[in-house]
Amino acid sequence: MRTAPLDPTPEADRLPSLAPQGELPVQAVLRRLEQEFAQVLDAASEASPQAEGAADPVYVTRPFLPPFEEFEPLLRQIWQTRILTNGGPFHQELEARLSDHLGVPQVALFNNATTALIMALRALDLTGEVITTPYSFVATSHALLWSGLTPVFVDIDPETLNLDPARIEAAITPRTSAILPVHCYGQPCDVEAIADIAARHGLKVIYDAAHAFGVRHGGHSVLNHGDLSVLSFHATKVFNTFEGGAIVCADPAMKDRIDKLKNFGHDGETSVPDVGLNGKMSELNAALGLVQLRHIGTALASRQAIDAAYREGLRGIPGIRCLDFAGEGAANYAYFPILVGPDYPIGRDALYDAFKRDGIHPRRYFHPLISDHPMYRTLPSAQRKDLPVAAQAADRVLCLPIYPDLDPATVARIVRRIARP
Ligand SMILES: Cc1ncc(COP(=O)(O)O)c(C=O)c1O
Repeated sequence: MRTAPLDPTPEADRLPSLAPQGELPVQAVLRRLEQEFAQVLDAASEASPQAEGAADPVYVTRPFLPPFEEFEPLLRQIWQTRILTNGGPFHQELEARLSDHLGVPQVALFNNATTALIMALRALDLTGEVITTPYSFVATSHALLWSGLTPVFVDIDPETLNLDPARIEAAITPRTSAILPVHCYGQPCDVEAIADIAARHGLKVIYDAAHAFGVRHGGHSVLNHGDLSVLSFHATKVFNTFEGGAIVCADPAMKDRIDKLKNFGHDGETSVPDVGLNGKMSELNAALGLVQLRHIGTALASRQAIDAAYREGLRGIPGIRCLDFAGEGAANYAYFPILVGPDYPIGRDALYDAFKRDGIHPRRYFHPLISDHPMYRTLPSAQRKDLPVAAQAADRVLCLPIYPDLDPATVARIVRRIARP
């Protein structure tokens, strides 16, 4: 059960409909982009990377923003109502819209995914040790440390680069209370195997789904797996609200607890039974999210075309491996990681430096491993020798630029640089 959208303004003052509008059919956009990419890759296949003149720097991502004119009326509404935060109308409407769009029962919005992770751990009353992946952004494990929990690192699967279920059971001790896997790059984890292990050992499962907006697996949203899933709407993510995040859950009573936790633990005006935080999303961020949602279809179609162009352009280059989508359903093309293997003429870092000299800035997500950082490296589970797959991935990975308005010529330039380092 979701909270009904609440609109304190009279009907006459209501600002333009928030229903999806003006969006070209996604398939048509995709076809057009694929043709454009094919032409540019073809024409450029003989050009030399060195022959290209200076261009604007290209970063691993460029946040997607809707036309400002679409956001402006919502800003005016905020100025008119003076409702800025505390679960206002845009907040409530975005929760409802995201729940429909993603196909999940309950969405609790947050100011970012890190706070959401900490509150998700609190909502499940976890104690002791939590099994997690070393191959992620530090926020995953930092949330455990902030919660007084001990991360236990387990190696990853070489195909998906997600937590390897075959290694989880050996890491379970009487102190283990949960598993915190990450759908890294939006690749679905082996959710069935993880659910089976959790059920057999009475463990909770929280997915760090920061990368997994819109990912579907086995006929429905990957966010429906586990006890809780946490999304990030940071500027770098597929769907952004500048900063933002959310917890997805199945149970309305759990959503109620989470809503209290993100409001300092308040239960009514004078009662504070829980140690919460301020995790609320503001009306400004929620309003932006509503407008962003109108464009998510075309944004994903652009990413899909870029992903396809990279795969086509990089096919057959010795030593370069692209990750295949591990899910049975829709990917979100959030990242384009390649693994630079020993058959490639130069090492990953040399390629990274060559790109930087060209004004292109890929990122080595996730190097170093979380377990290599000073606050983790003395943990018994943090030794690199016990995490060989993760260590190799961290040494080889390079995430190439991918974002909706990345132009075909730049994709061709990036492919040429890899083909002729
Ligand atoms: C895997 C993962 N978890 C958590 C986070 C934290 O998200 P936020 O920046 O919304 O706090 C990120 C952010 O990039 C991430 O990549």
